[in-house]
Amino acid sequence: MSVRILAIESSCDETAAAVCVDGQIVSNIIAGQKVHEQYGGVVPELASRAHMQQIVPVVDSALKKAGVTIAEINAVGYTQSPGLIGSLLVGGQFAKSLALTQQIPLIGVHHMQAHVLANLIGDNKISFPFLCLTVSGGHTQIVRCDSPLAMQIIGETIDDAAGEAFDKSAKLLGLPYPGGPLIDQHAQLGNGNRFKFPKPSIPGLDFSFSGLKTSILYFLQQAGQSVSYKQEHQVSPTEKEKFISENLPDICASIQQRIISILLDKLEQAVIQTGIQTVCLAGGVSANKGLRKEFLSIAFQKGWQAHIPAFEYCTDNAGMIAITAYYKYIANQRSNISDPSTARANW
Ligand code: KG4
Ligand code: ZN
Repeated sequence: MSVRILAIESSCDETAAAVCVDGQIVSNIIAGQKVHEQYGGVVPELASRAHMQQIVPVVDSALKKAGVTIAEINAVGYTQSPGLIGSLLVGGQFAKSLALTQQIPLIGVHHMQAHVLANLIGDNKISFPFLCLTVSGGHTQIVRCDSPLAMQIIGETIDDAAGEAFDKSAKLLGLPYPGGPLIDQHAQLGNGNRFKFPKPSIPGLDFSFSGLKTSILYFLQQAGQSVSYKQEHQVSPTEKEKFISENLPDICASIQQRIISILLDKLEQAVIQTGIQTVCLAGGVSANKGLRKEFLSIAFQKGWQAHIPAFEYCTDNAGMIAITAYYKYIANQRSNISDPSTARANW
């Protein structure tokens, strides 16, 4: 008998639903929230309200696209944590209500585990164990994955996440939120070797991005005269704007190149340390064209087996929640429906 899972993702500012049949994603619907653009970041209260408006039509579309009715669903998966608590509660309560009314199991999913398992979507054959570089707006981790449900974080950021580094740099350049995709776009026309931003020296497999942000701030205040962490002579705001507008592609390409080198140097170190040569990317930043290209090129040079999820499964989506809920379902892992912690900001 087929196993049909309906999954819901609402951890931040995307309302998403997907259906998975026997481990294959048959629908994956994502509704974004434009309302945050004008504020330069996600406003939690507005995100919860938008989820309330969008969740019914999004779930309905996912079921219709999959050609299944709610009565044919065997379990409901949802993002339990981490995320914005108000946003998580909307998806969590909706999933719980469906599970209760349909009398089917409820399966809470860890959002970061789901990002890693997005690599198992599709017909690709990834062998375990593998290492996954998970780079999103809130996390930057190297995860050792021994099976779909056995994972261990072996390195992570000690301050900002890679996505935050992209978004905060974009904000300094006057670009709207979320700036990551815009830096990616401008970087394609620029020279990444023109400005050399400093590289943090963090021991082991951990990352740090907060120093990069400070060096970009001072670099722009000095109109590119220095890329050090020091605050020296400052130019006028007009000169700064002129410098940015005349050099935007090269600045974006140089920032992107530094973020990519920080990430991939640590991944290379992790491969050496663990001896695991199967490597994956995951999370919103894995949609970055420069990172994808560089990752595949290093993997080719080193003889690693490399995999990246399709674009639609890189940024927040419910397909990754559905595949994780599927593996939990077949391993008989279910949530307790009377557990009061339907949603948890941290896990
Ligand atoms: O995984 P995700 O969708 O949400 C979280 O779980 O955080 O990641 C969102 C992050 C944002 O910081 C966004 O700017 C970044 O992913 N991002 C990108 C690109 N697309 C999304 N960063 C760089 N280049 C991109 N093309
Ligand atoms: Zn995410």
